[in-house]
Amino acid sequence: MRTSMSSSESLREALNFDEHLILENNWKGRFVGISDYQFFHRQSLENFEQFWAGVAEEIEWFKKFEKVVIPGEHPNVYKWFAGGRLNLSYLCLDRHVKSWRKNKLALIWEGEPVKEDGEPLEIRKFTYFELWRYVNRVAYVMKEKLHLKRGDRVAFYMPMIPELMILMLAAARLGVIFSQVFSGFSAEALASRISDIGARYIFTTDGYYRRGKIVRTKEIADKAVEECPTVEKIILIRRVGSTETPIDEAKHAYLEELLKDVNPNAYVQPEEMESTDILYVLYTSGTTGKPKGIIHDTGGYAVLLNATMKWVFDIRDEDIFWCTADIGWVTGHSYIVFGPLMVGTTVVMYEGAPDFPAPDRWWSIIERYGVTIFYTSPTAVRAFMRLGTEHVTKHDLSTLRLIHSVGEPINPAAWRWLFELIGGGRCPVGSTWWMTETGGILISHAPGLKLVPLKAGTNGPPLPGIEADVVDENGVSVPNGVKGYLIIKRPWPGMPGPPTGMYGDPERYNSVYFSRFGYFFTGDYAIRDNDGYIWVLGRSDEVLKVAGHRIGTYELESTLVSHPYVAEAAVCGVPDDVKGEVPIAYVVLKADVPKTSRVQEELRKWVRERIGAIAEPKSIFVVSRLPKTRSGKIMRRIMRALATGKPIGDITTLEDEAAVEEVKMAYEALLKEIGGKLE
Ligand code: WTA
Repeated sequence: MRTSMSSSESLREALNFDEHLILENNWKGRFVGISDYQFFHRQSLENFEQFWAGVAEEIEWFKKFEKVVIPGEHPNVYKWFAGGRLNLSYLCLDRHVKSWRKNKLALIWEGEPVKEDGEPLEIRKFTYFELWRYVNRVAYVMKEKLHLKRGDRVAFYMPMIPELMILMLAAARLGVIFSQVFSGFSAEALASRISDIGARYIFTTDGYYRRGKIVRTKEIADKAVEECPTVEKIILIRRVGSTETPIDEAKHAYLEELLKDVNPNAYVQPEEMESTDILYVLYTSGTTGKPKGIIHDTGGYAVLLNATMKWVFDIRDEDIFWCTADIGWVTGHSYIVFGPLMVGTTVVMYEGAPDFPAPDRWWSIIERYGVTIFYTSPTAVRAFMRLGTEHVTKHDLSTLRLIHSVGEPINPAAWRWLFELIGGGRCPVGSTWWMTETGGILISHAPGLKLVPLKAGTNGPPLPGIEADVVDENGVSVPNGVKGYLIIKRPWPGMPGPPTGMYGDPERYNSVYFSRFGYFFTGDYAIRDNDGYIWVLGRSDEVLKVAGHRIGTYELESTLVSHPYVAEAAVCGVPDDVKGEVPIAYVVLKADVPKTSRVQEELRKWVRERIGAIAEPKSIFVVSRLPKTRSGKIMRRIMRALATGKPIGDITTLEDEAAVEEVKMAYEALLKEIGGKLE
C-alpha cells in the first residue's frame, strides 16, 4: 500500500480500482455533482443543530425535544434530543398500523430447511398489523407474567427467526433494555455478557438450524446461567421441537405456553421513553480482553436510522429490503429491525447458511421475493465468487436496484462481481462505513440524496451533519491522499448513549475512544481523496475483522493463556482470500507440558468453546519465546510476515520502540524455530 498519493485518480490506481471509476455516467441526471454535495454538507455543519433538528422532525415524537444536543453527565457522552419522548416499538409498528401500511408486509422470513425439491420448507409472512398483534402479546407476557418493567435488563440468545425481531420490539415497547448475543457465541461469551448487564431473563430457542444441523442453544444457555445469579429463568422459543436435556420448571418456561391464555387482542401501551433512555446494549470486541457493552439511546438512534434509510438506501414504499447480516451484530439491529421497520418497508430475513442446501440459496431468495435493495458483506461475496457464476445467472435478479456492502473494505474483484453479476451493471454498489459504536451509517454514498457521484471502492463522503477527518499521530489533518487515522469530530445522533457510553464504564469509554485525539477515534486507517471521499483501509489497532466480525486479539490471547498448557500467547491477523483476515496464534507452552502434536487441536477446541467458531485460529505455532521488544510489546509484524511466508520488509519504521537489531534478531530466532513446519 502506498501511503501518499496526489489525487483520487492515483489513489484508485493504488487500490487497484481501475475500472468503472466514476459511475455518474450510468445515472446521468441523477446526481448533481460533488461540489453541490460539498456545499450541502458544509451547510449542514454550519447550521449543525438546526440541521439535525430538521432531520429529527421527520419522526413522530410523543413529546417534542427541547434541545438538539447537550453534554451528558460524563465527558464525551451527549444527550441527543433532550426532553423529547418517543418509543421505537410505536414508531416501527403502531404508526404504520394507523396508516394504509396496516396490511403491508412487514416481514418475509425463510427458514433454512428445504423440501425434497429444494424449495424452502417454511416461509412466514407478517403484515404490519400481524406483527403489531404478536408484539403486543409478547409485551403482555413480559409485563404481566415476567413482571419486567422499564429499565430492567434481559438477554436474547436468539437465532435468526421472527421471534427475535418480535422480542426486540416487545422489549422496546416496555422500555426493557435488551442485549442480543450472537447465537454462534459460546456459553462463556454469553455468560460474561449476561453478568455484565445483569439480565433478569434469557430468551433463547430449543435450537436452530445451521447448514442442515441443529445447534442446541438451550444447552448452551443452561451452561451459561450457572454463573449468572441475576437470571430468574430461561424463556424458550420452540424452533426445532425438542431439547436434549430436560426442561426444569423452576428454570425454564416456553414462550408458547406463556402466550396460551393471552387475549389475542391484547394491547400494551408503549412506554413514553425519554430520548436519552437506553434502548439496548450491544457487546463488541476491543483491544482489551473484556468485550465492551455499547449503549444505544432511543431518540438519537431512531433519528440516525430514519435518516440513513432515506439517504443511503433511498427507501421507497415498493421496496423489498434484504440485509443479510445476523441480528447478533449491530448491522442486523439497525438495518433488519429498527431502520427498515421505522420507514415501513418490507424486510426479508433468512435463518440459515448462505450456501445451504446449494450455492444458489441467496440468489433464489432475491428472485423469490423480488428483492430490490440488497445489503451484504464483502466476505460473503468473496465466498460466493469461488463457487462460480452459474448459481447466480440461473436466477432472475432484475428486481434489484441498489446494492451496498458493509463490515470491511471492499476489494476491487468483489465490487466488480457485485456490480456486474448481481446488479447487472444497473445498480449503484456502495460500501457503507460505520461501527457498532456509531449506531448507523456515517460515511456512504447517498443515492437517496441524489447528490453524490458514485465512485467504485470508496466509502463515500461523510453524510450530512457528520464531520469526519483523517489525521496523523498528533491529530493534525493529513493532506488528501495521505493515509491517517479516521476520526469523527463532532457528536452525532446514534453515538454511544447516556449515561455512560459504555455500560457501567464511563472511564473506559473515554480512554478507548477519546483519549488519543480528543475526538472520537474509530480505530481505522483511512485516506481522504481530493473530492473529500473517504477510503477506509482497515483497522489500525489490535482488532481483527474476521469475515466481517470483530475479534480482539487480546480477547483471543487471554482465552489461550487461560488454558493450562499455555504460558504465553500472541495473536495477529493474516490476510485470507475469503474472510479478509483470520487469526493466527503463537504460543509458548509451560515447561511441564508434553510436546504432543495434539496441542494445536486442543487449543482450537478451547477457543471454539470459549469464544465461538469465528475466533478459531487458522494456525497455531508453538514457539519457545514470543517476538517482543525490550519493553514487552509484541512485534506483530514479524508474526504476520512469518505466517505469510513473506520477508519482514522495511524494519526501520513501525515496530515502535524496537531497535532494528532487536527486530532482526527476533525475526531470525522465530524463523529458525518455526521455519519449514508451519501448519
Ligand atoms: C470496519 C460493522 C471498510 C471498520 C457495521 C470498522 C468497514 C469496523 C466498513 C466496525 C466499510 C465497517 N469499509 N471498513 N464499508 N464497514 N468497516 O462494529 O474497520 O462490527 O471500524 O460494525 O468494521 O465493525 P462493527
